[in-house]
Amino acid sequence: QQREAMRQLLAGRKVTVTAGGTIERIDPVRYITNDSSGKMGIAVARAAHAMGAEVRLIAGSIQVPLPEGIDTVQVQSAQDMYEAVLGEWNHTDIMVQTAAVADYRPKTVHATKMKKKDDDLVLELEKTVDILESLGQRKQHQFLIGFAAETNNVDEYAMDKVKRKNCDLLVANDVTKAGAGFGTDTNKVQIYDAGGLVEDLPLMSKDEVAFQLLQIAAGRLNGVSA
Ligand code: CTP
Ligand code: CA
Repeated sequence: QQREAMRQLLAGRKVTVTAGGTIERIDPVRYITNDSSGKMGIAVARAAHAMGAEVRLIAGSIQVPLPEGIDTVQVQSAQDMYEAVLGEWNHTDIMVQTAAVADYRPKTVHATKMKKKDDDLVLELEKTVDILESLGQRKQHQFLIGFAAETNNVDEYAMDKVKRKNCDLLVANDVTKAGAGFGTDTNKVQIYDAGGLVEDLPLMSKDEVAFQLLQIAAGRLNGVSA
């Protein structure tokens, strides 16, 4: 019965989810990336789909198979991801930014393979666009959810991010805790809004975290406080 009600919770809603890390090229055979597996984002996409939403998954570099039956586009760099997200933005109701977007990219992308030289190599990096912050600035009807992986001061950093990026919810996890963070099938998260802590969830599967999160979002979108 509860499952049946759940199935309709996001009916008629368009949900866009980003997942995985980004790939920032140095030259044709080398790049900078991170350890993101994409599991959390895929869990959110599947949960949204199960709750009746129309889902678009924007996948960066992921280490698991893409989910079947979910409309997915694959991207590489932060810039590609930004453009893909902007393409969905106007008709998105809930945006979930789980991706581990690179903060920096090589300032020069070499067109041909860089050759080894006698000297040490210094790579110059420049900042990438902050996708979530940019969405926060252009938010209209959209419900915006950010994620944050921290190793310390979770509360303080999460509150800073939720405000600075104008998120409706921010999901924070301490990746030094057992069962949380990159590559695991479980997660232990705290959910914040601009007013402070909303939920402190126990350790649970990423699928279950996704359902809990989307239930809160659906409740708020439908004008029911959760
Ligand atoms: N994010 C983004 N674009 C970036 C960097 C981050 O959209 N260039 C998003 C992430 O997808 C995530 C949220 O911002 O939803 C928080 O990411 P995080 O790396 O924790 O925050 P930063 O602002 O990059 O701060 P720092 O890495 O210094 O903790
Ligand atoms: Ca970052």
